[in-house]
Amino acid sequence: MKEAVEAVSNADKIVVLTGAGMSVESGVAPFRGDDGLWNEYDPQEMASITAFERNSERCWELFKLQIKECFEADPHEGHKALVDLENFGLNSIITQNIDALHQEAGSTEVLEIHGTLDELVCPSCGRSEETEERYEEILDGEIPRCECGSIMRPNVVLFGEPLPEGVMKKARERTENCDLMMSIGTSAVVQPAASIPLMAKRSGAEVLEINIESTSLTDNITDYFLQGKAGEVLKEIRDALRE
Ligand code: OAD
Repeated sequence: MKEAVEAVSNADKIVVLTGAGMSVESGVAPFRGDDGLWNEYDPQEMASITAFERNSERCWELFKLQIKECFEADPHEGHKALVDLENFGLNSIITQNIDALHQEAGSTEVLEIHGTLDELVCPSCGRSEETEERYEEILDGEIPRCECGSIMRPNVVLFGEPLPEGVMKKARERTENCDLMMSIGTSAVVQPAASIPLMAKRSGAEVLEINIESTSLTDNITDYFLQGKAGEVLKEIRDALRE
């Protein structure tokens, strides 16, 4: 911990990559592991573009569950600690999370490379709408339709779809220019997000990893591994920096 705090304190440009483990302490289920969503749902059947095109009603079973869980969740101490880290060099958060908890906590730059549940889009006419406007209807089990009659979908990246280009471009720029990459609560198995810490390392940055267990990054590219819950570890880092 002492060395990791020193690394944060010495860094001028810190970029953070977060995954589902960042939101677990807010009550949002991760995808993998014992309580993971993909234990219960097959992502190819429920969260892929082909599944949505074949049977969007079925995909909405999972969207509804995710929307409810994320709308009910509040940012925890770790999200708030990341806001405070902006005073210590943090300039961007690249997140795979679709729950908008970093923005809710007050982080300035959040690059949502897997999209957001906060917005619905129409796959036919491209119209978008805030999910909040349709929240009650969705919870009642209705499937939101666009004015044009098509079934809408959350503005998230489904399996088989490319990542949003502009957001990824910015994420790459931030990554290549940072001197410390903090990888928090991600299993680092889904590409291209999983390569972001490696990209940072190749550009000369150090890698600090926070996770309750080791990942494929830990023994390969991680310089500082802090094993523990994101909220608790981040709070400890923030408090140590303030001393
Ligand atoms: P995963 O569910 O794959 O991994 C969650 C990681 O968080 C694991 O490494 C856990 O050990 C760790 N973890 C769990 N609780 C934690 C806690 N309290 N503190 C710190 N770490 C904790 O989630 P992601 O890596 O985000 O993509 O998954 C990447 C992508 O796979 C997701 O964005 C999603 C999914 O399929 C799409 O849907 C496109």
